[in-house]
Amino acid sequence: MCGIVGYIGREQAAPILLEGLARLEYRGYDSAGLAVLDGEKGLQVVKAKGRLRELAGRTEGGALVPGAVGVGHTRWATHGAPNDVNSHPQVSQSGRIAVVHNGIIENYARLKAFLEEEGVSFASETDTEVAAQLIGYYYRGDLLQAVGQALNRIEGAYALGIVCADEPDKLVAVRKDSPLILGRGAGFQMLASDVTAMIRYTRDVCYLDDGETAVLTPEGVQIYNAFGRPVEKETVHVDWEISAAEKGGYEHFMFKEIMEQPKAIRDTVSPRIREGRVVLDELELTREDLENLDRLYIIACGSSYHVGMAAKYILEKLLRIPVEVTLASEFRYCTPIVTQRTLALVVSQSGETIDTLAAMREARRLGARIFSIVNVVGSSIARESDGVLYTWAGPEIAVATTKAYSTQLAAVYLLAIRCAELLGRVDQEEYRAMVAGLEALPGQVEEILKDTEKIQYYASIYFNHDSMFFIGRNIDYAVGLEASLKLKEISYIHSEAYAAGELKHGTISLIEDGTLVVALAGWDPLFDKLMSNVREVKARGADVLGVTTRARASAMAQGVDSTISVPDVFPLYLPSVEVVPVQLFAYYVALMRGCDIDKPRNLAKSVTVE
Ligand code: AGP
Repeated sequence: MCGIVGYIGREQAAPILLEGLARLEYRGYDSAGLAVLDGEKGLQVVKAKGRLRELAGRTEGGALVPGAVGVGHTRWATHGAPNDVNSHPQVSQSGRIAVVHNGIIENYARLKAFLEEEGVSFASETDTEVAAQLIGYYYRGDLLQAVGQALNRIEGAYALGIVCADEPDKLVAVRKDSPLILGRGAGFQMLASDVTAMIRYTRDVCYLDDGETAVLTPEGVQIYNAFGRPVEKETVHVDWEISAAEKGGYEHFMFKEIMEQPKAIRDTVSPRIREGRVVLDELELTREDLENLDRLYIIACGSSYHVGMAAKYILEKLLRIPVEVTLASEFRYCTPIVTQRTLALVVSQSGETIDTLAAMREARRLGARIFSIVNVVGSSIARESDGVLYTWAGPEIAVATTKAYSTQLAAVYLLAIRCAELLGRVDQEEYRAMVAGLEALPGQVEEILKDTEKIQYYASIYFNHDSMFFIGRNIDYAVGLEASLKLKEISYIHSEAYAAGELKHGTISLIEDGTLVVALAGWDPLFDKLMSNVREVKARGADVLGVTTRARASAMAQGVDSTISVPDVFPLYLPSVEVVPVQLFAYYVALMRGCDIDKPRNLAKSVTVE
């Protein structure tokens, strides 16, 4: 939610800020702005409602805003409608301090009332203006000190980039519960919400921790901890290529990322299989640890939660350990039963989702040990975990996750195999079959991606529907949840996922002539039961699109209108092959409806507000 970027150096800042914002636009895209300091012109602020191209046009690609120090922002509105006034940067009453902000200032109303009593007048409805005004209120010629005083009174989550016309030789950055990364270069320094915004300029980054403040000058960075003491931070070299965050000839990031899934799964799995065995060096886990567990909580949001749903079926079947999957936004408020013997597995692509981070901290406070499955290296969730299983999906830009979801599943399989081995739940033959099945998976996903035309064709038949249903049982149901989310988030079609056996308890009343029901029927032990549910909806007029394994394709074809078959995989890995056609289906449906696929309305990639 919201992307911030900052630059201080010798080049013109505005074009660099615009380029950084273009790479952060996935974080929010209802308005954008930048503030640049120039010796002659002072502080110049330009903001524009709408996509970043509006801002780029208004500034002629940054050329109209000279100066070598500045901050930029791309917004996902929380306080106040997206318009020019509410866009960031927000400025102090003096017009000399500008602030960009990602997060939410929770006590903004109280602070605003205080400042108004002190004679400060506000221009916008935003919480961020309170931060700018408060810093301005305390400013007596020392920006760092004013920022410190303001932060003592601010409650909430924030990553802030701050510039001051009276101190044009510095850029100040602070963070609490919102991501902020510093980029180190020769003669310049940068800050951003995400590495992608600065990778064109530098690959040497350092991650600010909560409560830290950084003062950037062209020559270097000084970081202070929450007590104002200087701290040394490790610089990390980012080694992925910029092309990983570009469309590379594809029309949409989402399609590119769907196509990248075989590689992403392979990159996640291969380094962890050595001589036919799953090796998870990054997790300290013993048989005693597992035998001691009273329960495993899986905590996540959105698609990551759906991975958790699939994981529950897989882990409980294989390990016989109770697994509870909880939406992170609910976890804190549902009096979870956590003891010293509880393990929490936190799943997050971004590693910054605030609900997930907060739930994870709560689980830790209650005594749980924390493992996580995370894609973004160095993210908050990764850094606060006792063990991280990184997924190697590479940067995922489309708001609708695809390749990160697939690699999260792969990480779950790896964990399942390793735990099953530790607990002695599988014999050698089963173990070998599971490992071989996992190694075969990228190739099987590739097979599906070679033939997308059939799926495109089905999308062309159904894209005009107002409502769709996804039904399945067991892990097919978990895939249905993801399929339904994928479709609704990018095509804006209402859809629901149902455990197929549950339909008759109410929802079947919505089925009428021509309603599309996508029946996921890969889970073989329940194939016949699922087909009974298919007959129930067909009897009420539904059109049924079946998704099943090749082994069951002809049996399914007899009961449905159309069938998509996927390779026969090791049964527990079904979600990985079933999800691909439904991702493609959602993509083509959204394409045919003319939707903005990579940037769906009202959404943002990284949800850093509660
Ligand atoms: C999925 O397509 C969504 N963009 C969303 O549900 C996402 O999975 C959720 O916000 C969780 O994000 P995270 O994995 O980065 O924590």
